[in-house]
Amino acid sequence: MTDTTSEARRRRTFAIISHPDAGKTTLTEKLLLFGGAIQMAGSVKSRKAARHATSDWMALEKERGISVTSSVMQFPYAERIVNLLDTPGHADFSEDTYRVLTAVDSALMVIDCAKGVEERTIKLMDVCRLRDTPIMTFINKLDREGRAPIELLDEVESVLKIPCAPITWPIGMGSRLKGVCHLALDEVHIYEPGRNFTRQDSTIFKGLDDPALADRIGFEVLGELREELELVQGASHPFDLDAYLAGRQTPVFFGSAVNNFGVQPLLDFFVEHAPSPRPRATTTRTVKPDEEMLSGFVFKIQANMDPMHRDRVAFLRVCSGRYDAGMKMQHVRTGKEVRIANALTFMASDREIVGTAYPGDVIGLHNHGTISIGDTFTAGEALSFTGIPNFAPELFRRARLKDPLKMKALQKGLAQLSEEGATQFFRPLMSNDLILGAVGVLQFDVVAYRLKDEYSVESAFENVGVVTARWVRCNDAKKLEEFREKNAMNLAIDAAGELVYLAPTRVNLQLTMERWPTITFAATREHA
Ligand code: G4P
Repeated sequence: MTDTTSEARRRRTFAIISHPDAGKTTLTEKLLLFGGAIQMAGSVKSRKAARHATSDWMALEKERGISVTSSVMQFPYAERIVNLLDTPGHADFSEDTYRVLTAVDSALMVIDCAKGVEERTIKLMDVCRLRDTPIMTFINKLDREGRAPIELLDEVESVLKIPCAPITWPIGMGSRLKGVCHLALDEVHIYEPGRNFTRQDSTIFKGLDDPALADRIGFEVLGELREELELVQGASHPFDLDAYLAGRQTPVFFGSAVNNFGVQPLLDFFVEHAPSPRPRATTTRTVKPDEEMLSGFVFKIQANMDPMHRDRVAFLRVCSGRYDAGMKMQHVRTGKEVRIANALTFMASDREIVGTAYPGDVIGLHNHGTISIGDTFTAGEALSFTGIPNFAPELFRRARLKDPLKMKALQKGLAQLSEEGATQFFRPLMSNDLILGAVGVLQFDVVAYRLKDEYSVESAFENVGVVTARWVRCNDAKKLEEFREKNAMNLAIDAAGELVYLAPTRVNLQLTMERWPTITFAATREHA
């Protein structure tokens, strides 16, 4: 087995998805603790506190400075290398979240046991489904009164439409929480609040028949547990590795992240069963992780993260081969060969220069405005990875200059910011307007600030009568031309040069789609 093959096989690259407040940050912190990546609880939390103050731009800037260090968290655990990719917490940056999900091999879904399946979880799950991403589920906050476990599984199955396979099962809840039963290992893990559990100091009973267990949790509770387990095992699905890997079943764990309870069984199971890097599609062929040639794609760009350096970093997910410091790569879109000597990785709070990286790893490339989201880098063959989406914006503004002589700078700024995915940028066919599109309203503040700060352009954004956008495609060139002529008023060109329909109302969009059945109106565009 080559070095690349064995290193790729031990990588586990994933992201945590959840509705805000379900416990993503807390769980991240516990996973890092188990992985030895941080020594003390609290360090991830304080970053999050900075992130909450988004109304103040300086805080936002600061947050960007900090969040890059936690963008990718790598730690070793049980002979594996775990890469946890952070997803931005603020809903306005959810487009970024979606792109991060294209760079992982699996996901971990956190659900609050009192709230059940919430709105953002549903959306994120839909994104995971686009690529059949395998998902494990952690039902959190067991130390509080929540809904009945069976009811929660039913909700996941009916709302998220994915069969559940419980791996652990709670013994009581809230003030009556006694522990969890590990169904796969036939173990009972006792809940002892206030203790920072690690494998060594948690109390584990083997099987339900140990008389000491009855002494510990009480005969009545044990009796109820036996009955409940019989019911659960009859009504739920047994774990099926293939179904999980195909995204058709989710193994479910119960616990309390803040009490460090139920987290270790999750992590042990995760490193054992979660997929290592999988083959990835390009426009010409499928790339396997154990190929010798390095390849990867950029899924995120963060600019000016460090006010001292004013740099931009492009995050490249390695898909095959091995990266070595100083090696040459081809930037496929531009056709240029570049030597990458100083790629970054982001362990804990330090930026480090990486020596080597393998499939599943993420490296940060210094970027001076030439790299765009979706770009492929390889050590040779001109490949282009597919599947990194641009989402149709739901909010639109017309950019207006305060100083009309700055038009060139404005256009350049908007073009670059849209390359990064900070905003989307449209030029109507019939006017000289510059229209910005965003998925969340905070994006406009960021764009205005950065235009001023980085391009010295003062701009104002005004409302414009557009409600949504659709990328227009048609195999029949004649039909497309006819459509273009008849609808020129509502058509624009995006930053990548593609034709887009800017709908003035939803009813208008509906009618136009009905009127032009041979035209495809796509709500996402893949980065070219
Ligand atoms: P998020 O990243 O998904 O938004 O959630 P986060 O981890 O920040 O958790 C949201 C809140 O839920 C936090 O409380 C956190 O302490 C709490 N929490 C997380 N896991 C558990 C758990 O297992 N049990 C209970 N009871 N609470 C949990 P907060 O009041 O917002 O913050 P803090 O003051 O506790 O830091």
